[in-house]
Amino acid sequence: MLNRATRALAGLIAVSAILMVVACSEKPTASAGPSNAKIIQMEVFKQASCGCCGKWVDHIESARFEVKTKNRQNLNAIKEEFGIQPRYQSCHTGVVDGYIFEGHIPASLVQRFLKEKPGDAIGLAVPGMPVGSPGMEMGERFDSYDVLLLKSDGSSEVYAHIDGPGWTDQTSSALPQ
Ligand code: CU
Ligand code: CU
Repeated sequence: MLNRATRALAGLIAVSAILMVVACSEKPTASAGPSNAKIIQMEVFKQASCGCCGKWVDHIESARFEVKTKNRQNLNAIKEEFGIQPRYQSCHTGVVDGYIFEGHIPASLVQRFLKEKPGDAIGLAVPGMPVGSPGMEMGERFDSYDVLLLKSDGSSEVYAHIDGPGWTDQTSSALPQ
C-alpha cells in the first residue's frame, strides 16, 4: 500500500519535472509579460548624479526597453552632436537607431514614434522637466506639457499634449504592448 503510494508520488514528481523542463525551454520573452513585442535597445546619455534621469530610465525599461546608460560630465556636446537645439533640451538624451528622445517622454509615445518613424523627424522632446511627467512625479502636482516632434529642418510640432496624470496615448492601443 505504502509502496504503491510512494511509486505514484514518484511518478507524479517525474511528470512535473518533465513539465518544468518543457516550460523552461520556452523563450524567456514568452513568460516575461503579456506581450511578445520585442525589446528595444536604447542608449541614454545623462549625468551620473541625475535622479530624475534614473527614474525615467526605470519608466522606459518597464515598457520593454533595454537601456545602456552613458554618464557624461558635459551633455552639451551630446546635444550638439544630435542637433538638439537649446529650446528643446532637457536633462537626458535617449537614442534608438539614430533617433533622439530628449527628456521625460512617456514610453508609449516613444513606442508610437518608433512604429510610425515619421518622415523628416529626428525624434521627440519634452523640453525642460515638467512636473508629473514620467520620472518627475511629485505627489499630486501636475503641469500639462507637450511632447514635440523634432523635424530635421530644426522646427517642431506638437506630437501629443499631455493634460493630466490620467492621460493615456489613445493611438497606442493599436500597438503591441
Ligand atoms: Cu529630468
Ligand atoms: Cu533626465
